[in-house]
Amino acid sequence: MRKLTLIVTTGLLVSISCNKSSRQDESSGADEPAAVTLRNCASNDVLQEQLKADPSLAARMESIEAFTRRISQNPAEASRLLPGGIIEIPVVVNVLYRTAAENISQAQIQSQIDVLNEDFAALNSDYNNTPAIFQAVRSGDIKIRFVLDQVIQKRTSKKSWGTNDAMKKTSSGGIAPTSPATKLNLWSCNLGGGILGYAQFPGGNSATDGVVIDNNAFGSTGTVSAPYNKGRTATHEVGHWMNLRHIWGDASCGNDQVDDTPQHNAANYGCPAAGHQSTCTGRPVEMTMNYMDYTDDACMYMFSAGQKTRMLAIFASGGPRASFAQ
Ligand code: ARG
Ligand code: ZN
Ligand code: CA
Repeated sequence: MRKLTLIVTTGLLVSISCNKSSRQDESSGADEPAAVTLRNCASNDVLQEQLKADPSLAARMESIEAFTRRISQNPAEASRLLPGGIIEIPVVVNVLYRTAAENISQAQIQSQIDVLNEDFAALNSDYNNTPAIFQAVRSGDIKIRFVLDQVIQKRTSKKSWGTNDAMKKTSSGGIAPTSPATKLNLWSCNLGGGILGYAQFPGGNSATDGVVIDNNAFGSTGTVSAPYNKGRTATHEVGHWMNLRHIWGDASCGNDQVDDTPQHNAANYGCPAAGHQSTCTGRPVEMTMNYMDYTDDACMYMFSAGQKTRMLAIFASGGPRASFAQ
């Protein structure tokens, strides 16, 4: 267990931990259960590396946190600061391929854009599976739309990529992001180490901004592999890119900075039975179907209203992704 505790200027305690012991390499065998082999909280691993490498990042993220709290506590201010209506996000898809199969098709790329649009508009067909106890806190339409801007393909001799951002740099055989201040960059490549994807949180370096997704978890058709074949890795990672934390707060009974999501004692995997209870104070029922948990694609289908507010805050005037909402 690796644990990093950051005490930042305003006194907010950000505690992030990753349980490395559950991580297994893909090479450990094809008959390992996929739920174990394809799991890793890579976004937080990457964040911790960035926090170590860049001494100013913690303060920048804390001021984003203070801004988010201010906007979230005053929804009238949020709606005043946001340009009326819907935020449209142009998406650049950067495809790195060694084999023909890794050069994912246009149909597979479009399927990912379609899933993002369904999930962020709450138009996904499984949205109505939300249990009665959580229906009052469902997000509804987040009012963010994604449009495919361009696809950039590049052949590589690399068999697999890690979480060191090499795929985002020309100097290491990757593809640099296109207009990261106004476009969401996605990278599709073969990620090793059983990682499905990882995102960079708001506040990070624009040269590495965006979301990386393993080619076998990209979209909902073509080379996708169950149980990560419904495009929800991108929904989860774009959630991080829009400042959402894991629902368990990356700690035992941790805080995800969202009031309407219950405390979880840890990440959930697979497809938990209805009514699964937390061991945290009050033993609340966990929101295992939230996109920011670690359940299978078929078993995650909603954001909460509080998560919507938190995501929209970053696009408000003065927020870290305001340049997307001009
Ligand atoms: N392990 C990934 C991360 O946070 C995301 C997991 C996505 N889950 C899924 N069912 N697709 O870095
Ligand atoms: Zn995550
Ligand atoms: Ca919460």
